[in-house]
Amino acid sequence: MKTVIEPFRIKVVEPIRMTTEEERQVFIREAGYNPFRIRAEHVLIDLLTDSGTGAMSTRQWAGIMEGDESYAGARSYFRFEEAVRAVFGHRHVIPTHQGRASERLLCRAVVKPGDVIPGNTHFDTTRANIEDSHAEAVDLPIAEARDPGNLHPFKGNIDLDALEACLRTHGRERVPFVLITVTNNSGGGQPVSMANLRATRALCDRYGVPLVLDAARFAENAYFIKLREDGYADRTPREIAREMFSLSDGALMSMKKDAFGNIGGVVSLNSDEWAERVRTLLILTEGFVTYGGLAGRDLEALAIGLEEVLEEEYLRYRIASTAYVGRHLEACGVPLLKPFGGHAVYLDGRAFCEHISNENLPGWSLSVALYERIGLRACEIGNVMFGRQDPATGTWRWPPLDLVRLAIPRRVYTQSHMDYVIEGIDELYRQRRTVRGLRFVHRPPVLPHFTAVFEPVA
Ligand SMILES: Cc1ncc(COP(=O)(O)O)c(C=O)c1O
Repeated sequence: MKTVIEPFRIKVVEPIRMTTEEERQVFIREAGYNPFRIRAEHVLIDLLTDSGTGAMSTRQWAGIMEGDESYAGARSYFRFEEAVRAVFGHRHVIPTHQGRASERLLCRAVVKPGDVIPGNTHFDTTRANIEDSHAEAVDLPIAEARDPGNLHPFKGNIDLDALEACLRTHGRERVPFVLITVTNNSGGGQPVSMANLRATRALCDRYGVPLVLDAARFAENAYFIKLREDGYADRTPREIAREMFSLSDGALMSMKKDAFGNIGGVVSLNSDEWAERVRTLLILTEGFVTYGGLAGRDLEALAIGLEEVLEEEYLRYRIASTAYVGRHLEACGVPLLKPFGGHAVYLDGRAFCEHISNENLPGWSLSVALYERIGLRACEIGNVMFGRQDPATGTWRWPPLDLVRLAIPRRVYTQSHMDYVIEGIDELYRQRRTVRGLRFVHRPPVLPHFTAVFEPVA
């Protein structure tokens, strides 16, 4: 049998409110042409993010009822600690309310002004937290990652020569850690190979710099290693994940992705000194060290999610169902980033909207058109998210890729939802010259995509 089926049945359903194109034109105009500002009930298919939007399992919901809400020393914390340590293997397990809280805590704890943090490609909130500590976030992806059509199997890899040059230039005094994001979300959900992680570890050892993983999608990364890297075909995703983490000194994780949580995060560390600093800050802003801003029931659900996400049947379905969307869009000629990511398919905004200049934000304009035409909410990862204006000259620097990410929530949509998405994008691609460019009306200086306001250009 070729068909890969969902390894679950649906027990609870949530209605989708149907809307017309005319209604959506009003909603998006009222939202300042920013899909983040639309009410979710006005969206037909929501592929804005796979973060916190997954469906929990019967076991997770049962775990919610088991949650221990004690302020200190709750049973649910120890369950969580055990589940995290069983995969990550670090000495200290510190819960947080989500990924960016983990980033904030680690940056506050160990990053000094003037520091440099190299990585394969930092996620937007990670970059923002590093910059907020007056340090520099340096992206060093391999050259293949910049070419949307290149079929390199591990486009999430860091460029080892560039990393070595960075470590040589700045040394351990200015590089508090190297951060590798698995899978590389901002670079297209692309995996990092074990060989690249091992070589990064060796470089970090040579320069005495700790290696930290941003592990939001570690299970998808582990499954790609199983599928694509020599020597891993017979290993379980759990074994592969453990090997990945064994190469690291610590990890940050948004558990809203590969732990099936609607909320949650973790900082996992080997260093007693770093853990002490992070825990002190945690108490200041998040909560006591055994709940870190979460309810006991959340900790239970995350502990169970962390086990479920490593089930091979689930990962096979997850990677196959994302590739299904990519393959069908590719067959329609839609320009895409390849290979397809684990959690998302990325449209190439500049190639889709060749008639729109960088200043008029092709990827963002495409995301707005997708909402208006078919009620699909997607997320631009390109000019709006990463474009920077030189304060002296006013000249814009645009990122190498201007992508529109279709992030697929875990265990939420069926194949017919995806068929609707494929048909709609195909139709829009055939009428692509009707997509109108946009320009900024208001651009907040930090993380502009969340709240910026736009208007169509004439
Ligand atoms: C790779 C990566 N790191 C960090 C984060 C931030 O996590 P959160 O949204 O839970 O704050 C995200 C969120 O999408 C992510 O994809």
